[in-house]
Amino acid sequence: ELSPIDKAKFAAAKRASAFVESGMKVGLGTGSTAAWMVRCLGERVRDEGLRIKGVPTSTRTADLAREMGIEVISLDEAGWLDLTIDGADEFDAELNLIKGGGGAHLQEKIVATASDRMIVIADPAKEVAHLGAFPLPVEVISFGWTATRKLVEEALEGLDVLGREVTLRMDGTAPFVTDEGNRILDLHLKRIGNPRQLSLLINQIPGVVENGLFIDICDVVVIGHGDGRVEIRD
Ligand code: A5P
Repeated sequence: ELSPIDKAKFAAAKRASAFVESGMKVGLGTGSTAAWMVRCLGERVRDEGLRIKGVPTSTRTADLAREMGIEVISLDEAGWLDLTIDGADEFDAELNLIKGGGGAHLQEKIVATASDRMIVIADPAKEVAHLGAFPLPVEVISFGWTATRKLVEEALEGLDVLGREVTLRMDGTAPFVTDEGNRILDLHLKRIGNPRQLSLLINQIPGVVENGLFIDICDVVVIGHGDGRVEIRD
């Protein structure tokens, strides 16, 4: 028996996977909600003979997709995608997102922006009036990361945010390492006044690879509820 939160994630995943049609090239997101979507698609491949090619956004998702019998190709083999379905850590009324809680936002952003459409699947707890309560992940190159952190902290001084603490993401006692071999800084901003401006400024800093703000990228949010209901925002 699933917990209410897993029922909500499953409901959203199941509904979103119904948008997928035979012949499509589909971006496969990362995280616990996206994992449900990969399982739903695997079921359709097995039971309905759905023919799709999946482009995973992490090694975790690649492993799960193969296990579920989904044909996995790289983004370069795909060239362009019809649709990407992914989770999110926060979404607002304009369908702007914070992603990267799982540390995969770099590949997730590349895959989502190489898609005709991005559908986000979420439980109701992900909806916010203002982005920023969830710490904003910023992927940085290992080389000189403390200097990069200093520049990030300086950039935050001039920005409309409520918190300015920057922490290195850890994996036990060692720094967390992304699929691309980089590190993650988590920016504890509490509330982001102007996400678009912040995203542009942070990404200009040498050593920064990509931040977890998705501005004007998501087209639809499918919200699942614990009782199985789904809501669609677009
Ligand atoms: C992965 O890097 C993130 O962007 C995920 O999409 C996000 O953390 C959502 O994960 P859950 O579905 O597990 O909440």
